[in-house]
Amino acid sequence: MKILGIETSCDETAAAIVEDGRSLVANVIASQAALHGRYGGVVPEVASRQHLEAMLPVVEAALAEGGCRWRDIDAIAVTAGPGLAGALLVGVSVAKALAYAKELPFIAVNHLEAHLYATWIDEDGSGSPPPPFPLAGLIVSGGHSDLVLMRGHGDLRRLGRTRDDAAGEAFDKVARLLGLGFPGGPAIERAAEAVAKPALRLPRAWLGDSDDVSFSGLKTAVLHVVRGERPPPVEEIAAAFQEAVVDVLATKTARAAEREGVSAVVLSGGVAANGPLRRTLADRAAVPVHAASPLLCTDNAAMVAACAFYRQQAAGWDLDVTPNLPVA
Ligand code: KG4
Ligand code: ZN
Repeated sequence: MKILGIETSCDETAAAIVEDGRSLVANVIASQAALHGRYGGVVPEVASRQHLEAMLPVVEAALAEGGCRWRDIDAIAVTAGPGLAGALLVGVSVAKALAYAKELPFIAVNHLEAHLYATWIDEDGSGSPPPPFPLAGLIVSGGHSDLVLMRGHGDLRRLGRTRDDAAGEAFDKVARLLGLGFPGGPAIERAAEAVAKPALRLPRAWLGDSDDVSFSGLKTAVLHVVRGERPPPVEEIAAAFQEAVVDVLATKTARAAEREGVSAVVLSGGVAANGPLRRTLADRAAVPVHAASPLLCTDNAAMVAACAFYRQQAAGWDLDVTPNLPVA
């Protein structure tokens, strides 16, 4: 079964075709990052307009890349939330219109749940098995930091979340403080590479036994260091910040995985592209860590199509977007 996925929840206009939930037939992503970069963050109205312009050409490009015609497609899947309301509306409206015109079923997908399914996709065609259940999933992106327990398809329970900034949001805000540009995650990772072990030690918010995380205190600590009398080099601050975020995320995820007795850990979302996070979590977790391939960590439509295959909940024409949709 070939599913065409559509994703417009934030600043990527994406379409992809995935067969039977695992095999990647086509994957097209038009990123708006450069457009938003000059504002230092995603501007919702600009994002919606850009999605509107890019959406149909991106769908056509996915069909061409996969060598598919419409009659090869069995269903259309689309992100219905969470995300920016206007941006989501573009994807959902286009999915509905295409499903109606091509007489195909369409499936609504939760963007956060979809991030987990990036690890189901056998991107290189090696036939490696998907992550086993039960699993602990860490979804860390620009808008969310959720730790979930997944016992099967559609069986998700949220264990923890951020109490303030999402992990990616913290990377983006600290990068702005350090003058490193947008998006902040890759810029901070690159700057931090110059420092093997930072001498600067920034605070971690452990929040006792809770699986929740918090990054606003860390962000404020960076602000104080930057505005201090003799601030260390930007690279040093970037490395210390990254070390603190990675320490908290990896420690809490490994601890929750052990407590819940899971068989695997899944790591996904834009921040999962971070090398030190991938390595540290793999070191600390007692079970195998399935990290999404770097290309599928950030927003894409392949994960939407994969998720839809396992969920297969046909939506009605009255489907609306849900900007605050929780992961579970
Ligand atoms: O999943 P995503 O593409 O969009 C949302 O659903 O939010 O995540 C984007 C976020 C941005 O905050 C970006 O700075 C962060 O992921 N990010 C990274 C890295 N690459 C992207 N954070 C840390 N290290 C990276 N290498
Ligand atoms: Zn995302």
